[in-house]
Amino acid sequence: MSPPQLSPVLQHKLEPSPTLRINEMVNHMWAQGNEVYHLGFGESRFPVHPIIQRALADNAHQKSYLAGQGLEALRVQVARFYTAHLGMNIKANQIMVGPGSKALIYALQMALDAALILPTPSWVSYGPQAELLGRPVIQMRATPADQYAFTLAALDEAVAHSPKPQKILIINSPNNPTGQMLRPALLRELAAYCREKQILVLSDEIYALTPHGHAPHASLATYYPEGTVILGGLSKHMSLGGWRLGVAVLPDTEDGALLMRAARVVAGEIWSTASAPVQYAAITAYSENAELSSYVQECAAIHAIRTQHLWSWLVELGIPCAQPDGAFYMFPNFDPWRKPLAALGIQTSDELASYLLAEHRIATLPGTAFGAPAHDLSLRLASSYVDMETDAAADAILTAYRTNSNGDALMSQHHPKMAQAIGELTRFVEGLK
Ligand SMILES: Cc1ncc(COP(=O)(O)O)c(C=O)c1O
Repeated sequence: MSPPQLSPVLQHKLEPSPTLRINEMVNHMWAQGNEVYHLGFGESRFPVHPIIQRALADNAHQKSYLAGQGLEALRVQVARFYTAHLGMNIKANQIMVGPGSKALIYALQMALDAALILPTPSWVSYGPQAELLGRPVIQMRATPADQYAFTLAALDEAVAHSPKPQKILIINSPNNPTGQMLRPALLRELAAYCREKQILVLSDEIYALTPHGHAPHASLATYYPEGTVILGGLSKHMSLGGWRLGVAVLPDTEDGALLMRAARVVAGEIWSTASAPVQYAAITAYSENAELSSYVQECAAIHAIRTQHLWSWLVELGIPCAQPDGAFYMFPNFDPWRKPLAALGIQTSDELASYLLAEHRIATLPGTAFGAPAHDLSLRLASSYVDMETDAAADAILTAYRTNSNGDALMSQHHPKMAQAIGELTRFVEGLK
């Protein structure tokens, strides 16, 4: 048989992504018995709460296809959840349920004939999804010197370069890769700008329930309800990434209803429905339950301790890095050491990530994976994996926190690998000075 003729959009995408390449290298090094500090892997590792496990077990018999928009009872519960969290009236017909928020973002991008405007840096999949759909992507300008601040000036510049009249903007707060939140004052200005320019915003709020405590999560939807689609799900605050349950909250307008119809068509032709037992269990996950909310807060508090400690160690080493406000990421920059790094043959973030892995056994992701220019020497670090590699290790961290919730004690007594990783990073940075 002759080789398959691939779609042109896929021909240049067949090289493994930096994420996959780093993971493959890490797995290879582990298989050879080497220690690797996996600061490249962002996944909340806490145990599935027993209430949620029970809800899934109780619904193992659910076997039928469900409505493409999602199970009605779940949509009602999700609408209640967002009504309580946003302080605005959200209706069940505004909710769409899908197999992960990633699939919902793809469906929405497919539904819209628009150019995609992306902040720099931004999560790894938004841009490639648009490329798969043949949509233009315009990356907003941002620099490490300004800690990649999101500005309306950069947005306006990107809008002016849009090759299509319709534009969508994806924002993500708390952010992967920077951990930062968009503050209410900026969201208010952003709402006014997008309203004037008629820009639809996909607001990825998947990390909304993992704040670090010094800034509350705010949603653009409260300032711009008619033009904001919120994305959320169970992957992060419930540590349920593998369950594949995401939700979208569409505007309560005629345009929102039209977009819902289009997204339902995409769902109907691609995935039909998110897994039925998981949707039934998700009713419990979205319900008002004191035990579950305190568990979610506990997990967020541990993410905060681990992430803020890692960040403060970077700052002590003199590495420029914006302080994370939520989630389990940060985006440090090594531009101050451009010269000594060049002497090591490192001129791009890809080369920096490869060097750190090969020479210091520290796995990270290069800034290029997040749309940063190749010569910005930025990396994404995730705090979620180290010292929680196995279920037993993750359990042990949770137990230790319950015994003593002091952050310094948790880090000094229960994070041996994190300490080693920092030691290794210190050796690397001291060698550059
Ligand atoms: C910013 C961001 N959005 C969306 C997702 C995808 O989440 P889901 O599991 O709901 O598809 C992730 C997962 O890594 C993420 O980091």
